[in-house]
Amino acid sequence: MTEKLQKARDYEALHRPEIANQLPAFHLTGGVGWINDPNGFAPYKDEYHLFFQYYPYDTQWGPMHWGHAKTKDFIRWEFLPAALAPDAQYDSSGCFSGGAATLPDGRHLLLYTGVEIRPEGEFQTQCVAIGDGVNYEKYEGNPVITAADIPEGSSARDFRDPKIWQENGVYYAVTVNRGKDGSGDVLLYESPDGLHWQFSSILYSCGYRFGSMWECPDFFHLDSKDILIHSVMEMRATTLEYHNGNCKMYHIGHTDAEKHFHAEVSHAMENGLDFYAPQTLEALDGRRIMIGWMQAWEGSKQKIPGMGFMGQMTVPRELTLRDGRLLQWPVRELESYRANKVEYRNVTIQEETALPGITGKVMDLILEIAPTETPYTRFTLEINRGDGFHTDIILFPQKGTIRLDRTFSGHPHDVNHIREFPADFHNGAIRLRLLLDRYSAELFVGDGEQAASMVLYAPEKADGITLRSDAAVQVSMEKYDLEITENWRTNHGK
Ligand code: FRU
Repeated sequence: MTEKLQKARDYEALHRPEIANQLPAFHLTGGVGWINDPNGFAPYKDEYHLFFQYYPYDTQWGPMHWGHAKTKDFIRWEFLPAALAPDAQYDSSGCFSGGAATLPDGRHLLLYTGVEIRPEGEFQTQCVAIGDGVNYEKYEGNPVITAADIPEGSSARDFRDPKIWQENGVYYAVTVNRGKDGSGDVLLYESPDGLHWQFSSILYSCGYRFGSMWECPDFFHLDSKDILIHSVMEMRATTLEYHNGNCKMYHIGHTDAEKHFHAEVSHAMENGLDFYAPQTLEALDGRRIMIGWMQAWEGSKQKIPGMGFMGQMTVPRELTLRDGRLLQWPVRELESYRANKVEYRNVTIQEETALPGITGKVMDLILEIAPTETPYTRFTLEINRGDGFHTDIILFPQKGTIRLDRTFSGHPHDVNHIREFPADFHNGAIRLRLLLDRYSAELFVGDGEQAASMVLYAPEKADGITLRSDAAVQVSMEKYDLEITENWRTNHGK
């Protein structure tokens, strides 16, 4: 093991225990320090492994390592020691995002982007590390995909984030690349063994329709469709569905015989304030499951005082297709951690109301508004409330939108705190599911047609929840505590 990797492992073994009591109950963090994108999300030997862009030494982005955790049920995670450090010439400026697959002999293969800054500029190549689920060796043939394997005129600098999968005995990978016109392309590669790669096609091109450069692609089949996911840099909002800056999208379509993808519909992947770079896997039972980085780049440039970690993952979400939309719903495994049900049926709400038993900061909450005869125009659910703090989820059925407003959530920096997005109401009726963890809220609308995440830093005691409406509405609620014990056990390489 190199000195750099050993140093990262020693650091996390020493410092993770110091902030263990700070961690969210069921959202994965790096345990200490900074994380961004989920990487290598894939089954390996009957468990699910997740790596992440990781800088253990600070709560700000730094030379990228790969941190590592695994889970059996997507809710209880076990930290493993850091898997990669930027310790080779070709990745000396960082081990950027990538994917994982299993080799025919049972070894675990990581395909990631090596970043090297040379006097003549920055270069990104795709590299391999092979291991046993804990320890990984970089492949002596690295890099395995280089500037020699990209279309003419494409960028050797913006060429990253390989997502690998296996199909009918062939390994495939998609990467992003800055194409000839300066905007993002998704490139498709094929390999017989995960080590020797060949350029296959430009799967899809941005052509400046959705932002400029793209990041973190993923490609998979669902029902009879092909789905392409990617993140977007420099998006320009044209409707409330998209927002400016770093966005994320999905396209539903099909792939032709020349391996070009044709999108039939395109949508924003998430509508919250904090979500980026999602990655999916096919679970052992065939479900397609996605996890995202629950943080916005724009909101992560400053430290949060007193916090020993920066960056969390979303709860893993099951993806399904319905009527030209990708629905996302928290993995069903979460429901087995529900406890202490509190239920209300058809309570009339107008004046500000706190319902007894509906309080807390770690919960699974379902709220349903019945169809209304006299329409309301504004319904407010306040969470993380107390001591002057509150975060508002405001429903506007006439406009057909939902607004998140965390202005008073205790966030110490002047980053974006408000986002409004389209949602479907039926005569004012709507169903919401809200997952609260100590520092976050994840909202699912309807059957998961929309999802919206946000990071919140209100103090522990700001745990109130209230409802109010500008006209009387019938509200039903179901609230569960989530009792997740034994999370964040650490092995640290032993
Ligand atoms: C996306 C991203 C990736 C890159 C990684 C670096 O958030 O910019 O494109 O691989 O982060 O940490």
